[in-house]
Amino acid sequence: MIRKAGPGDLAALVALEAGFPEVDRFDRRTWRRLLAGRTVTLVHESEGMINASAVLLFRQGSDIARLYSISVAPVARGRGLGARLLSACEEQAHLQGAARLRLEVRSTNSSALRLYDAAGYRVIARLESYYPDGEAALRMEKFLIAPSDGAP
Ligand SMILES: CC(C)(COP(=O)(O)OP(=O)(O)OC[C@H]1O[C@@H](n2cnc3c(N)ncnc32)[C@H](O)[C@@H]1OP(=O)(O)O)[C@@H](O)C(=O)NCCC(=O)NCCS
Repeated sequence: MIRKAGPGDLAALVALEAGFPEVDRFDRRTWRRLLAGRTVTLVHESEGMINASAVLLFRQGSDIARLYSISVAPVARGRGLGARLLSACEEQAHLQGAARLRLEVRSTNSSALRLYDAAGYRVIARLESYYPDGEAALRMEKFLIAPSDGAP
């Protein structure tokens, strides 16, 4: 089941990322802020356990939503969960009025790149030294609704 997360999910969201490298995970304070802010966090729950999460950011006056994070618990990877969650994020972003979804991904994160590529995301920029450890990011984008004639 994919549903929106709430403040009661804080501990599970922190735990889900516990095994990730420190630079790639949110701490408790960041999760608390995300759950209270202009964001939507979606989680996948199975037998009462959260095993995947994704955070969407929205900006007033912009029709571009941002996929701020997506993670699937290591034991649950490779079974289509990431793709389902990504699709739920697109649906949610569209529902909230976004025409495009953008994200940044480490240039060496091959599984995430395959996931986004398969879902129809295209690279629109390379951002050198984007991450605190100096790695470059690829900015990717997908139109959630077909661009009208003349759009880029
Ligand atoms: C990236 C991530 C969310 C993918 O989740 P997942 O549930 O394993 O992905 P899925 O099973 O839905 O796979 C979707 C597609 O991604 C690709 N993919 C996923 N994992 C892969 C892997 N280990 N190797 C190669 N391709 C992979 C495949 O193309 C797959 O499609 P297919 O199975 O139809 O060929 C997951 O690996 C993860 O949480 N990684 C750590 C956090 C992270 O890097 N997040 C992205 C930050 S931008």
